[in-house]
Amino acid sequence: MSKGDMQDCLTLAIESSCDETSAAVLRGGREILSNIISTQIPVHQKFGGVVPEIASRKHIVNIMPVIDEALREAKVKLSDIGQVAVTYGPGLVGALLVGVSAAKALAFSLDVPLIGVNHLEGHIFANFLSAPELEPPFVALVVSGGHTALVRVKGYHEFELMGQTRDDAAGEAFDKIARVMGLPYPGGPEIDRLAKEGNPDAIDFPRALEEKGNYEFSFSGLKSAVLNYLNSMQQKGEEIHRADVAASFQKAVIEVLAEKALEAVGETGMDKLVLAGGVAANSSLEERLRTACEEKGIRFYFPSKALCTDNAAMIGCRGYYQALAGDGSDFYLNAVPNLGLRSISAKE
Ligand code: KG4
Ligand code: ZN
Repeated sequence: MSKGDMQDCLTLAIESSCDETSAAVLRGGREILSNIISTQIPVHQKFGGVVPEIASRKHIVNIMPVIDEALREAKVKLSDIGQVAVTYGPGLVGALLVGVSAAKALAFSLDVPLIGVNHLEGHIFANFLSAPELEPPFVALVVSGGHTALVRVKGYHEFELMGQTRDDAAGEAFDKIARVMGLPYPGGPEIDRLAKEGNPDAIDFPRALEEKGNYEFSFSGLKSAVLNYLNSMQQKGEEIHRADVAASFQKAVIEVLAEKALEAVGETGMDKLVLAGGVAANSSLEERLRTACEEKGIRFYFPSKALCTDNAAMIGCRGYYQALAGDGSDFYLNAVPNLGLRSISAKE
């Protein structure tokens, strides 16, 4: 397909990596015609986290109605679809397989290209949907439930992984701390809300790997420090100010994320910083980065709330640019649960 034809091409995108079943239709790379998200959060909430087996079963039930609704809302027919993009990793294997199988069946029956998309790259590309004027190069801070990384995005198909977490992801730390504090799943938004009532300087929790030029992250020490604090307060019979714990923990996470991201922008000589992934919905992180970027003359982008967390539109956007770069899949496409962020050079 020529670049001109691609601009009118309709992409059907499917996302089922975790607890959201989502389908979207995009015209070209950036025009969202529909983005249907069916969340399973209420189903998993009573277990305190996502139950993989239940997630797969729910995806099976939801996938076709969600795709139907995406087509209906976009006012297009299945036969109008020019390509099918789908998340093939990272995520829960059984959950991913539902989306991958549906996408394969549709692409095969429609005789259109199939494009396997890395979910994390999708999160970065959500920013192209929120900010139509955004173009590479930029530095992306990816903060999701399973990953935390800094990526130098040199072009639409040219990335360099600058560093990632050695242990827990930022979102994972939010979820775990929320859980021990008795807050419902997912914990990120709960901590975000509670932290607004607390004093972020009340408790001095540790920050890891703070040395300059180190773009790796580590949140397991911070997690242990918060657990130790809660245990020792309980043992001493002292009152725990939950809002202060939430605010101090959140500050410790945000400071490390913000400092490393700003340093990465400085080192690469770029003038744009892009925030991506579910934790991008955190109001204090967004505020901290926006203020710092304004001071330093860096343009700051973050996706709208609906595009921060898992959705198929971001997968469609990434799939469109992969198609332009000739990076499609064949029908041997399989789910890759531990797929990471990779460096891609322009020649690939
Ligand atoms: O990107 P995402 O929807 O799923 C993954 O790809 O992992 O991210 C989900 C993560 C969860 O850990 C959730 O607690 C966190 O994003 N999250 C937040 C907020 N909203 C969602 N973390 C902090 N503050 C928030 N407002
Ligand atoms: Zn995600």
